[in-house]
Amino acid sequence: MNRPKVVVTRRMPQEAIELLEKEANVYVWDSEETAIPQTVLLEQVKDAAGILTNVADSIDKEVLDAAPSLKVISTMAVGYDNIDIAEAARRGIAIGHTPGILTEATADLTFALLMASGRRVAEGAAYVKEGKWKSWGPMLLTGQDVYGATIGIIGMGRIGEGIARRAAGFDMNILYHNRSRKPDIEKSLNAEYCSLDSLLERSDFVVLLAPSTPETYRMMGEREFKLMKSSAVFINASRGKNVDEQALYEALQDGEIWAAGLDVFDEEPVSLDNPLLSLSNVTALPHIGSASIKTRTKMAVVAAQNLLAGLAGTELLFEVKGDTV
Ligand code: GLV
Repeated sequence: MNRPKVVVTRRMPQEAIELLEKEANVYVWDSEETAIPQTVLLEQVKDAAGILTNVADSIDKEVLDAAPSLKVISTMAVGYDNIDIAEAARRGIAIGHTPGILTEATADLTFALLMASGRRVAEGAAYVKEGKWKSWGPMLLTGQDVYGATIGIIGMGRIGEGIARRAAGFDMNILYHNRSRKPDIEKSLNAEYCSLDSLLERSDFVVLLAPSTPETYRMMGEREFKLMKSSAVFINASRGKNVDEQALYEALQDGEIWAAGLDVFDEEPVSLDNPLLSLSNVTALPHIGSASIKTRTKMAVVAAQNLLAGLAGTELLFEVKGDTV
């Protein structure tokens, strides 16, 4: 019997590859840090029944056109804005992702970024290594209090709830904005639902976790940053497209907001010419929200399991429904 071909667009934990190899001929773009070139991807998917992808690949109409035998696309991520879902659904291609599995790791990193940005941790670490530390100073590298501050969470999904649980441990006053109200979270964590504007006006830390959709495109722009307190910290752990980066740069530069912690950018990898990187009050990370060893390994295995289910034509563990997006 002919074994189906699977294209894995990046080096993966061996456990995931071994799972796939039991059922399929597997092509792996064997690099940790370099994305598969488009020409290689287009060539390799020609006879592929499955693609195991990640946030860095664009699985668009051109790729789908090049892959007439495709049955399943599986991404090792919760977000799937890099995949043309509508087009894939039209062609009957199943799509898998890995929600749930990365909730706590991503909430940990997002909260770490919040603390690092508020308390200037990355700046302080660089200060020491660059030999700038001459003496202890009363107001040297002073930041914003986290404990007891007000946090505003935009997007109260699984990760938003994870952040809220951590914030409750820091005795923070929790505000949130979401498409729908979450009565359980309001009750268990004493979180207050409010309009976006009210959240922006009242929060000391604004944490953006909304998925990237046409509705959330550039949802944080000049108007929104102007509403924030001049002492407030903005954290983005969602997608860069949700933010107008020029407006963010100006808000940080002009002191309209105090600092930003960014794990995601409009263009990734972010260009060294991006003006945001020139600001000392920006803590920038390379999209590592879910990057703990355990979590990334589990994500890879679940993505492989989703892919195998798609090849077999059975239900995926976690399936993105094209008609619901
Ligand atoms: C990461 O950004 C993800 O969507 O899992």
